[in-house]
Amino acid sequence: MSSTTTLESAKAQVLIDKENKYGAHNYHPLPVVIERGEGIFVWDVDGKRYFDFLSAYSAVNQGHCHPRIIHALKSQAEKLTLTSRAFHNNLLGEAEEFMAKLFGFDKVLMMNSGVEAVETAMKLTRKWAYKVKGIEKDKARILFATNNFHGRTLSVVSASNDPSARLGFGPFMPNIDSIPYNDLNALQHALESDPNIAGFIVEPIQGEAGVVVPDEGYLAGVAEICRKNNVLFVADEIQTGIARTGRLLATCGSCNCAKSKCEMSHDTKPDILILGKALSGGVLPVSAVLANDEIMLTIHPGEHGSTFGGNPLACAVAVEALKVVIDENLAENAEKMGIIFRNGLQKIAEKNRLVTLVRGKGLLNAIVIDSEEDSYLAWNICMEFRDNGLLAKPTHGNKIRLAPPLVIKEGQVYEALAIIEKSLNAFV
Ligand SMILES: Cc1ncc(COP(=O)(O)O)c(C=O)c1O
Repeated sequence: MSSTTTLESAKAQVLIDKENKYGAHNYHPLPVVIERGEGIFVWDVDGKRYFDFLSAYSAVNQGHCHPRIIHALKSQAEKLTLTSRAFHNNLLGEAEEFMAKLFGFDKVLMMNSGVEAVETAMKLTRKWAYKVKGIEKDKARILFATNNFHGRTLSVVSASNDPSARLGFGPFMPNIDSIPYNDLNALQHALESDPNIAGFIVEPIQGEAGVVVPDEGYLAGVAEICRKNNVLFVADEIQTGIARTGRLLATCGSCNCAKSKCEMSHDTKPDILILGKALSGGVLPVSAVLANDEIMLTIHPGEHGSTFGGNPLACAVAVEALKVVIDENLAENAEKMGIIFRNGLQKIAEKNRLVTLVRGKGLLNAIVIDSEEDSYLAWNICMEFRDNGLLAKPTHGNKIRLAPPLVIKEGQVYEALAIIEKSLNAFV
């Protein structure tokens, strides 16, 4: 993909060239070199300030370098960082108890990256299928939704229908199927016609697909159909979780967890919950899989693990990151600011023909640009945003995700909207 011809500073260009020369070319970053972050802002190597409207793909919900999370990191780093799970550490049980009670599950299995947690959920789903559901050896199947994004490992891309995620990486993992997203009839049909389906893994909102929000009632329908068919409902809340969509979790439905702890007694509760990204406030990789005993205790010592999973540094940071979300009412703020932001985007869309659709929930939002998926227009708009002091990135060509840290204030939402409007107007 090419970009508009904007010259980066000499300092920035040297650093970009170094990455290009010595790093793998597995990303296509917007040409901006960030050196510092605080709250909703980042600064580049030349001292220019930007609104961060990507939040590291929703990993810095609490804002960049949140003082409480950084303090937790620093003080734990001076005491103990890693024991491996060969021994106990004094923080793991505390962190597990905190998360289990907060999200309403019996048990927690901590991992590091998001995709590792998805892999963990896939393994748990299979183990449960053989040990509890009674599926014949090696016959278990896992169902996904089309246009999903769950990460980049081989078994996870086996569930993807994105050609760029798959091309040249085959052969893929067997016994994986997919059905259209937001289609309860397709789910019902799939589960009723195949008794070997063990679980349905789904994003409550499809983030990477361009912030695709399913119909009201979809998640409750998924939970019910899975329950009736003795199939696990596995919610990948790596991007939607931790207050991003205006609730502690996007599967929270109508419970009051925007304000307090998640009640998780509602009809959209998944059997397995997968968290990552903002679980650590973007400070270090922490992910977690939560489930009740019937599922979690199917895995025994030696059957799954990770050297760094559940390390004391991650435990200290994750607990503090979650406490910040609760103490600062970030779910509530995401809900309120999200409404103001989407209303502002709608007004822009009414005046600017380039914006064909505004969608989202809480502070996970996107605009769809009137162009082909493979055109450069959305990229060029993001370059204009950058020049005007706001960072965002296209996803799937013509969609631009707009997801600031959840600590954003009302005045800042209006400032950002002014930048977005001005930038879009440069293209009409
Ligand atoms: C819904 C979802 N699942 C899984 C992942 C993978 O997480 P990670 O990049 O930490 O492996 C992502 C990352 O964007 C995601 O959005």
